[in-house]
Amino acid sequence: MTVFGTRPEAIKMMPVVKALEASSDFRSVVVVTAQHREMLDQVLEDFDLHPDYDFNLMKSGQTLTDITNRVLSEMAKVIPEVQPEMVLVHGDTSTTMAAALAAFYQQIPVGHVEAGLRTWQKYDPFPEEMNRQITDDLATLYFAPTDQSKQNLLLEHHPEKQIVVTGNTAIDALQYTVTQDFKHPVLAQIKNPDAKLLLVTMHRRENQGEPMRRALTAIKEVVAAQPDVEVIFPAHLSPRVQKVAHEVFDGVERVHIIDPLEVIDFHNLAARSYLILTDSGGVQEEAPSLGKPVLVLRDTTERPEGVTAGTLRLVGTDPQVIKTQLTALLTNKVRYQQMATAPNPYGDGHAAERILEALTEYLGGK
Ligand code: UD1
Ligand code: UDP
Repeated sequence: MTVFGTRPEAIKMMPVVKALEASSDFRSVVVVTAQHREMLDQVLEDFDLHPDYDFNLMKSGQTLTDITNRVLSEMAKVIPEVQPEMVLVHGDTSTTMAAALAAFYQQIPVGHVEAGLRTWQKYDPFPEEMNRQITDDLATLYFAPTDQSKQNLLLEHHPEKQIVVTGNTAIDALQYTVTQDFKHPVLAQIKNPDAKLLLVTMHRRENQGEPMRRALTAIKEVVAAQPDVEVIFPAHLSPRVQKVAHEVFDGVERVHIIDPLEVIDFHNLAARSYLILTDSGGVQEEAPSLGKPVLVLRDTTERPEGVTAGTLRLVGTDPQVIKTQLTALLTNKVRYQQMATAPNPYGDGHAAERILEALTEYLGGK
């Protein structure tokens, strides 16, 4: 049983679900909590995924308690009905943690895809750091994307024989999406064919409000000073994000705020961008595969592999730091090339195959 609820979980679980569906050794049951509604449905439609169960739980202004309560109670009904041999969850959302807890309560083993990511800071990112730590405490099988995430799990004394390094399924997903002949209406709004395209996303709870306002204002100021730059900002549907995004960017020349993009469009726009500014987790994994430098609008990252490789740079939300780093990347070709050509540390696009092999071994060997 595969359980997911938000956009990034859906994108990164998709390759696993497709692999399970293609295998005659498994019966795949897909459960969506719909912690996100429209942004989840975009992914389901793009990848032709058809959930067996849909909790439809999203509400505007939902609290962490609301989501956790509803996932727990709905899962308590579905698990006895389906009687899965294993529940698979992904990443670090409230859906992830609550679905893992619901499975644990019924003594169903949990497989955690994207296990072992850590900042070791309880509130950063909030609540994701604790969601993933709790999920790893509950899990039986750990699909760690990198050696470093495996080391994090070993530091917490999770058994080595239950950990498999798989690569990140985000890289698998890119193989379904990136095409040569991509067109999108927002590209038609950009008049300068030589424009440098900045793709921006920002949504984390710890950045909402003033940090987001400061960061977006800094980007706006750099754009004003660099006439060949255009910004595309597909703004997350959270009202807290929409408010600040429109307050800072509405009416600003060469800045385009648009609705969240379908994942196929987002990956293709990322592939055509000059660089990316983001506080997203998934985007930090995808950009190195596409050869795009990323300025990470956060003070910490659970994806240090990209920083070490040279493809990600942490800039936080201090406007002066953002302005200096962004201007340097736009004007210093050597610096840009170093980041754009750094190796991708997140895998080879075969993570889902490795997950299935490990599942076969575990379930076959029971
Ligand atoms: C959630 C995850 C976060 C992940 C992010 C991915 C938790 C605690 N947070 O944060 O880890 O990085 O998803 O995007 O699990 N909304 C819509 N339509 C949608 C999606 C969201 O209207 O399709 C609005 C709703 O008003 C909703 C709000 O966004 O209440 C916030 O959604 P929520 O899932 O609570 O938090 P995210 O910030 O999206
Ligand atoms: N993404 C998308 N449309 C957008 C912005 C992002 O499909 O307009 C994809 C992106 O390619 C990545 C995922 O959504 O795969 C990241 O989701 P998000 O940033 O919401 O969450 P996080 O990864 O931070 O948990």
